[in-house]
Amino acid sequence: MDPRDPAVPELLAHGRIEVTGRLVDASNATLFGTVSADGVAAQCVYKPVKGERPLWDFPDGTLAGREIAAFLVSEAAGFHLVPPTLLRDGPFGRGMVQVWVDTDDERELVDVCSPAKVPAGWIGVLRARGQRGEPAVLVHADTPGLKRMAAFDVVVNNADRKGGHVLAGTDGHLYGVDHGLTLHVEDKLRTVLWGWVGQALPADVVEALEKLRAELDGSLADVLGDHLTRREVRTLSTRVNTLLAEPTFPTPAGYGPAIPWPAF
Ligand SMILES: Nc1ncnc2c1ncn2[C@@H]1O[C@H](COP(=O)(O)OP(=O)(O)O)[C@@H](O)[C@H]1O
Ligand SMILES: [Mg+2]
Repeated sequence: MDPRDPAVPELLAHGRIEVTGRLVDASNATLFGTVSADGVAAQCVYKPVKGERPLWDFPDGTLAGREIAAFLVSEAAGFHLVPPTLLRDGPFGRGMVQVWVDTDDERELVDVCSPAKVPAGWIGVLRARGQRGEPAVLVHADTPGLKRMAAFDVVVNNADRKGGHVLAGTDGHLYGVDHGLTLHVEDKLRTVLWGWVGQALPADVVEALEKLRAELDGSLADVLGDHLTRREVRTLSTRVNTLLAEPTFPTPAGYGPAIPWPAF
């Protein structure tokens, strides 16, 4: 089912979840399955809270809630970058359920390649060496959608924007997934999308931030309070204000690694 099909949220919320597999490269219990009701079905990701691997830097049992909060922020700003995601009961208890995005592998937007093979117009963000010492570069495309994603990651303080978390949907839309490591109160931005450091935020991003600012002043702060601490919501609000006061893509804060590892 198209991730943006208007029937998706209702189906995700009330359909019957059947787990059919596990995503093998996933570090937590990240399950794959279908959610169905009245003969309609969609593929989905289901991450039970019980399957969350404890991390030193994020409080236990909070990753699913962060995924929902990131979705709510993306919607409130009008970014629409996160596939519909919600918290509900499933076969292994409460967890996050997110609609699956079919991807177009011909339209990859992040890559590691030889410096001689960087696609035209792409931006290099890191020089590295391959296993046999050959030079390699981490590169990403330069598109308005990807710029929106980079700005979204600043807003939600995403600590894990790997290449594999950037999906080009077969529906033509760009999606970001795996937002369990977001919205911490400390600066943790770790991303492969560093291509626009110091550049002005595009006008559509500034508009989105203004919309988000207004939503936070309305009911969004309370809604987010179901998934985040009050301090986390306040810190989100501060990040939005800071970006609006100085609308440029920030430089790495310098506290931890700026690029997630592995990068994919
Ligand atoms: N909603 C989705 N649609 C399509 N692919 C997804 C979706 N969610 C995750 N994936 C794919 O599955 C991989 C593992 O899922 P992810 O959310 O990153 O799990 P983990 O939290 O364990 O790292 C992702 O890198 C991505 O390729
Ligand atoms: Mg992941």
